Amino acid sequence: MTRELGIGVVSLGWMGRLHSAAYAALPMRYPELAVKPRLVVCADPVDSNQTAALEQYGFEKAVADYHEVIDDPQVEALSICAPNFLHHEIAMAAIKAGKPFWIEKPMGVNAAQSREIAEGAQQAGLVTAVGFNYRHEPAVERMRQLVREGHLGRVTNVRVWLIADYASAPDGPLTWRYSREKAGAGVVGDLMSHGVDLAQWVTGQRVTSVSGLTDTFINERPIPLTAGVGHAKVELSDQSGPVENEDYVAVLATFENGIVGTFESSRVAVGPRAEYVVEVYGTEGSARWSFSHPQDLQLLIRGEGPATGYTTAMIGMEDGDFARFQPGPGQTMSFDDLKVIEAAQFVQSVLTGTQVAPSAGDAWLAAAADEAIVASAAQKSWVEVPAVSAPTTFAFPKD
Ligand SMILES: NC(=O)c1ccc[n+]([C@@H]2O[C@H](COP(=O)([O-])OP(=O)(O)OC[C@H]3O[C@@H](n4cnc5c(N)ncnc54)[C@H](O)[C@@H]3O)[C@@H](O)[C@H]2O)c1
Repeated sequence: MTRELGIGVVSLGWMGRLHSAAYAALPMRYPELAVKPRLVVCADPVDSNQTAALEQYGFEKAVADYHEVIDDPQVEALSICAPNFLHHEIAMAAIKAGKPFWIEKPMGVNAAQSREIAEGAQQAGLVTAVGFNYRHEPAVERMRQLVREGHLGRVTNVRVWLIADYASAPDGPLTWRYSREKAGAGVVGDLMSHGVDLAQWVTGQRVTSVSGLTDTFINERPIPLTAGVGHAKVELSDQSGPVENEDYVAVLATFENGIVGTFESSRVAVGPRAEYVVEVYGTEGSARWSFSHPQDLQLLIRGEGPATGYTTAMIGMEDGDFARFQPGPGQTMSFDDLKVIEAAQFVQSVLTGTQVAPSAGDAWLAAAADEAIVASAAQKSWVEVPAVSAPTTFAFPKD
């Protein structure tokens, strides 16, 4: 029998909108969950977002104060899609209320906040989910499976780069993302958190030490006069303010099992728009996935195929959750579909009490690596990345 699940969403910006739409899609995409998410209440201080919550997204109630989401007895699980500086206080309030949450990355503004959230959820016995959406790309799932089954031999090195242009215009608004207090790190927390998680996800191994370099290329931006969603254009004042966190990062890294790797990320590239690439190299082959061609996996396995370079393995019904979204191979999935997969994993975790989705422990691990990268760049030396004590999901299950 189909069960209703009372959902609250904190913040209706870019991610809040995707989370809300993802919950609504579950009965269509994952009917076997036998769940009908009920969008009970959304909290956002911006009036137009409250109106959108009611009129576009179908929430029963829209409020300004997130406490009303957590305190609502009809809310059984919630999404935390606020700017980073609010993650900690909202998550700790959810933990206190005993409510499971799906939180966006980076989880908090530093590793200490991430740790408190992950440990708090663990102590309260709560399942969690984290917005590491690129894990759910079917081609990335296939890459992980190929590594896990040994098709690439012993993995020697990994290369991940996430080069974006969302902040490349110098007249882009000085939103919360450029404030140390409100965002924490810059591109390290924003994109590199995905990069670290992806590298750990496809290799099944933890990053253990890093040597980082960071820089800021656009040091001032105009102060916005109006609220926007994501990186959208807004009305600007003629006053500027300082960019307080980094635009660019490059990293050398070591992993468990002797793997080494490099990471690079920029938010101010002029050219690539969202060029997110993962390459895994092993003694018997290598694989490469790019968000620009998400349905393709570039692959070479020694002794298979023409063996003169990569061939393109195309994703189909057998890969990840592709078949949920398209009934035939060769079709495309969207970024938003990755959030539906995440919603399904979160809701499954809530219904079964078993952690299925990327966890707060995974987010703590990424935050610890991010913090080590920033510290290493400041100190100009290698920094160890500590292991975390909360449950993580990136390691390959023991057969
Ligand atoms: N998983 C991903 O790929 C991905 C992509 C983009 C953003 N994010 C993460 O999602 C989070 C939100 O980013 P976004 O792009 O949606 O930002 P956004 O700027 O589009 O939205 C932020 C929203 O928070 C609201 N807000 C501000 N103060 C609030 C308060 N006190 N209570 C409740 N709501 C409040 C704003 O009104 C706005 O609607 C960030 O942590 C970000 O890093 C993740």
